[in-house]
Amino acid sequence: MKATYRVLTPQDLDNGEITSQTFALEVLTGLSENPKRLQSKYFYDDEGSRLFQQIMALPEYYLTRCERDILTQRRQDIAGHIAAQPFLLVELGAGDGQKTRILIDHFLHRRLSFTYVPVDISEGAMQTLTTTLSREFPQLDADGVVAEYFDGLKWLSAQTDHRKLVLFLGSNIGNFNRPQAKHFLRSLWNSLNDGDIVLIGFDLKKDIDLMLKAYNDSRGITAAFNFNLLKRINRELGGDFDIGKFRFYASYDVFSGAIESYLVSLEAQTVPIKSIGQSFRFKPWEPIHMEYSYKFLPSDIEELAQETGYTILQHLTDPQGYFSDSIWRVNKT
Ligand code: AVJ
Repeated sequence: MKATYRVLTPQDLDNGEITSQTFALEVLTGLSENPKRLQSKYFYDDEGSRLFQQIMALPEYYLTRCERDILTQRRQDIAGHIAAQPFLLVELGAGDGQKTRILIDHFLHRRLSFTYVPVDISEGAMQTLTTTLSREFPQLDADGVVAEYFDGLKWLSAQTDHRKLVLFLGSNIGNFNRPQAKHFLRSLWNSLNDGDIVLIGFDLKKDIDLMLKAYNDSRGITAAFNFNLLKRINRELGGDFDIGKFRFYASYDVFSGAIESYLVSLEAQTVPIKSIGQSFRFKPWEPIHMEYSYKFLPSDIEELAQETGYTILQHLTDPQGYFSDSIWRVNKT
């Protein structure tokens, strides 16, 4: 007799049913709290991913432009950190992969041997990304994973016999508070080998008005991006949010060092959500906390690397000092 068993991974279990139950549960939890909150990872359904692309094209949203300049100017330096062996180019939260194309193009020109592994929470974004990439770079090997960060890391841990360069661009790390960022970086460390390289984008602390403008854009795209989460709750959970009864508000908290985004109820109202089987009551001017976008000092970056097991190889910064792409080496010795 042969007795075998299979350990189910979260991916195996993650059918649509469980995903939408988790969403409902986390909406219930967040809206039951005082102050009310929703998690910004839920911004990125297909519509949200499209809206975020529009944000990246905004003149006020300096982050994307700065990082694109850094990657263009410093692609030689980045390639210089990769050993002459085949490797996986893993990208967490790849989105439309717009900035990554700069590196992919450069690596292909250098005839480096690699497979691009974009990881993204949005299946729609992944579909668009893989189709456009295969059209643009017919010689590129790409092998995407639709998953949240931590499930993506589990997948990564299983790829033990490959060297890796992991990209975490755009200051995506800014959505985590300090303890969460450390937990994330340590989990990443756990799923990598000694000598693997990570490249992380950090939005730096700077003039407060400049930071505020990036989240209070004149065209209202960032507001629409936030409202889309209420619409998503309406669409997927049978919610009855009236978008017109809320306003978007973003401010910089000098203590936390984060831009914090809110949707504020303009009147007393009760919002039923069918699949949760409950209604949520709002007082006039009551906020829902939507997102943290933490900003960093160079010393914060050094502290994070040091406390989670990495050696900093290089900081790549734009001439204005708005943004930093930091290159770290996994240190396990
Ligand atoms: C993708 C998390 C880096 O916080 O700046 C943009 C998302 N939110 N405008 C950020 C976002 C509002 C963005 N990150």
